[in-house]
Parts: sequence; C-alpha cells; structure tokens
Amino acid sequence: MSRCQEPKVALKGKFVSFEGGDGAGKSTQISLLSRSLTDIGISPVLTREPGGTRLSEEIRQWILHEPDAIDPVTEVLLIFAARAQHTVEVIVPALEDGRWVLCDRFTDASYAYQGGGRGLPFEVIESLEAVATRGLRPDLTIFLDLSVEEGVRRSGGRGSSRDRFEAEELEFKHRVRSTYQEFARKNPERIKSVDASESIEEVHAQVKSLMHHCLGVSID
Ligand code: TYD
Repeated sequence: MSRCQEPKVALKGKFVSFEGGDGAGKSTQISLLSRSLTDIGISPVLTREPGGTRLSEEIRQWILHEPDAIDPVTEVLLIFAARAQHTVEVIVPALEDGRWVLCDRFTDASYAYQGGGRGLPFEVIESLEAVATRGLRPDLTIFLDLSVEEGVRRSGGRGSSRDRFEAEELEFKHRVRSTYQEFARKNPERIKSVDASESIEEVHAQVKSLMHHCLGVSID
C-alpha cells in the first residue's frame, strides 16, 4: 500500500469521505465505521452531500427530485452552492474542533457525476472547488468500487422512488465509475479503492485496515 497523504490544511480533526456508485454500500459502511470509531472513543460527525445543513438539504431536494430537466451548469452550481454552505457551517468547524468527519460523498462526486457523467470540463469543476471549499480535500477517501450491473441490481428495488441519477442510463453510470477509477489511480495517496462486491464484513475489515494504515488509528 502506498504512503497516505498528509492533510494539506492544518485542521486538528480527520476528514474521511466515502464515494461509489449506486448500491455500493456507502451508508452501511459509514454506519459500521462510525460504530467502530465510537467504540474506541472517537465520536465522529456524520454528514452527507449534497446536504448536511438545512439550506443544503433543501438544495438536495431540487438536485435529486426536480421533475423538469436541469441544465448541467445549473446542476453543478447548485451542488457547489450546497457544498460551500456545508463546508463552512459543518465540516470546517468540526475539523477545527478536532472532531472526525465521515462524509457520504464530497467533491470527487462532482468530478465523477458532473464531469464524467454529464461531460462538464474538469476545469470548470476545479474553479468551483477553489471557490466553494478553498480546495479542502478529505484526508482519506474510500472509493467503494462495484460493477455498474451489480450496483443497479442491488439498488433495483427502489423502483419509482429513484432519484435523477439512479434513473440515468447505464452509459452514464459507466462514465461515473471510470472517472472514479481514474481519480483513484491519479491520487493513490488519498483515494483508496475497496472492492465493494465483497461481503459487508470483509469491506468493513478493509475500511478498518485503511484507518490504521492511512490515519494511524487502530480499531479492534
Ligand atoms: P447519495 O445520497 O449518495 O445517494 P445514493 O445513496 O443513492 O448513492 O447521493 C445522491 C446523488 O447525488 C448520487 O446519485 C450522486 C449525486 N451527486 C452528484 O451528482 N454530484 C455530487 O457532487 C454529489 C455529492 C452527489
């Protein structure tokens, strides 16, 4: 395993994000990790994107459930508006307080979905990132990698309650996955891929091992 990235910003807490496509098991793994951390005396802040603040959760409703077509530029601006508020109101204060933050998706999702999926240039996303988060990146990003077909099968039961991204065609989901994989290859110190087709217990064991190797925290 390669060396892990030193945090760029001098914040006392640890910032861990989880990424992956439909059905990869992010929520399950976040709650298992949260429980394991709590058992060793670290009580993390759990949050998600888009969302995490009152305003950002309202924006989330538009992004996921607006019935009319949303222009890709409008979509990315809404996502970064939600992220800017979430960053200043929740994530940075928690990290300054020395808290751990476990975030269900962060800016990598915008590169994967709005860049890879929708086809917006990465430079546009980089510019928005610089303004909205001032370049704040997680200390560790766990990418739960799963084939598109298996992800669709696992989340298939959601039927008519599917959001705008779950309802996208398979080609879109393939582009999202390959963008995540490309980012993981380009940022090996920060983004760690975990094979999400393994059992829940095995994936959790790998997540705990990454906590140890990358963040120096031994669980169990
Ligand atoms: P999420 O709550 O993780 O939904 P799920 O558990 O169904 O995967 O994320 C909601 C959707 O928002 C997800 O399909 C991806 C999309 N999204 C983006 O397109 N860009 C972003 O920057 C983020 C954070 C999410």
